[in-house]
Amino acid sequence: MSKSWTPSSWRQKPIVQVPDYPDQERLKTYESRLSGYPPLVFAGEARALKEELGRVAKGEAFLLQGGDCAESFAEHNPDNIRDFFRVFLQMAVVLTYGAAQPVVKIGRIAGQFAKPRSSPMEKSGDVELPSYRGDVINGIDFNEASRIPDPERMIMAYRQSAATLNLLRAFSQGGYANLEHIHGWMLNFVEGEQSERYQKLADKITESLDFMRAIGITAETTPHLRSADFFTSHEALLLGYEEAFTRVDSTTGDYYATSGHMLWIGDRTRQPDHAHVEYFRGIKNPIGIKCGPSLDPDELIRLLDILNPEDEAGRITLIARFGAGKVADHLPKLVQAVQRAGRSVVWSCDPMHGNTIKASTGYKTRPFDNILSEVKDFFAIHRSEGTHPGGIHVEMTGKNVTECTGGARAISDDDLSARYHTHCDPRLNAHQALELAFLVAELIKDERDDKSLKNTNTA
Ligand code: TRP
Ligand code: MN
Repeated sequence: MSKSWTPSSWRQKPIVQVPDYPDQERLKTYESRLSGYPPLVFAGEARALKEELGRVAKGEAFLLQGGDCAESFAEHNPDNIRDFFRVFLQMAVVLTYGAAQPVVKIGRIAGQFAKPRSSPMEKSGDVELPSYRGDVINGIDFNEASRIPDPERMIMAYRQSAATLNLLRAFSQGGYANLEHIHGWMLNFVEGEQSERYQKLADKITESLDFMRAIGITAETTPHLRSADFFTSHEALLLGYEEAFTRVDSTTGDYYATSGHMLWIGDRTRQPDHAHVEYFRGIKNPIGIKCGPSLDPDELIRLLDILNPEDEAGRITLIARFGAGKVADHLPKLVQAVQRAGRSVVWSCDPMHGNTIKASTGYKTRPFDNILSEVKDFFAIHRSEGTHPGGIHVEMTGKNVTECTGGARAISDDDLSARYHTHCDPRLNAHQALELAFLVAELIKDERDDKSLKNTNTA
């Protein structure tokens, strides 16, 4: 691999999952327009996130990453952003308590617009059209005009990302993320579920906050309780867009992607000698790599060599997505290879993408029990390997959609048609997302209790 890197050196490499823009000149015009626009994030923020992820890699923190499969222009409104953020922060509180560790909070939001597809064409009846590739590329409507990639969509995606991020920054700093409010909302949820399990955990958090209040640590006295640290992420699939937002950080002279704090490489675009890996190796942001069943241990180590040659903690998050029942066939080999190579990574579990099935009613869905089962396997394997189950990566929304089956409210195949709104993959709804957080918090807490038991036994 050549050593010299530029924001455009990926253009010399083979590439997959690229849209077929009919007018290359027009594409160039829009890309160069974007390259003059203000960045969405500042390099210092990406560095701070890398540092926090470094703590996750060392086993001292937990990662929560989540959001839509694909953001859409149609669903761009303040309520969606607020509802997502509210549930996401509630999950973070529950996990913080369960882990007794800081939770690094990263949304799949403010830039999650480009989708890799398993097939370049989509068939409906006798008609075959190019697949939908995300709103930043083409339209979801099944007609010829809408499926033509249009570079102007990149401008719209950028504007939407900026507006979304602006509101999220306001929420996280302006008082909305106040820990005491978030906890109050969570109590409402627990009451609705009437589950003793959740009630117990929620009560303990209430007690902790009461205790803190008694000793004078409240949102009024402690700014740390009033605001939340929140970061953005997306799959960096559309490299022309990413290149336009790759900027030199004036304080270090390094290149950073400024379209989001963390970017990840999809399972379909992680070929070591291809364009996406080439792009990623030159940016200093923390990055993710999706790890599916086709990734072998040697290839993973090769990717780590290319993408993190100095073995910087927090640089790499490996996002495992194998499917319930398949984790044991794949994950231990990868974990062992990384351990043998002595590399520092964050291990995160994406229990969504390996568990997509077709419901009897024809909808793409994901059964809640399979999602939970993959997370459990992930935890069990890390426990037996002696490594840190560092985080979870979920597709979720703050709305009461019916896209994944199961959960305490038992959504069935027949219910899916009621509120199936996703532009791509099925997401956990607000209840399912929070429920998952409670169940994961229990898993982490069991693990902690186990460890401290071991420590007392050997003492
Ligand atoms: N500032 C801390 C953090 O971001 C604590 C905190 C404040 C918090 N509000 C929160 C944590 C909401 C989770 C959710 O971690
Ligand atoms: Mn998805």
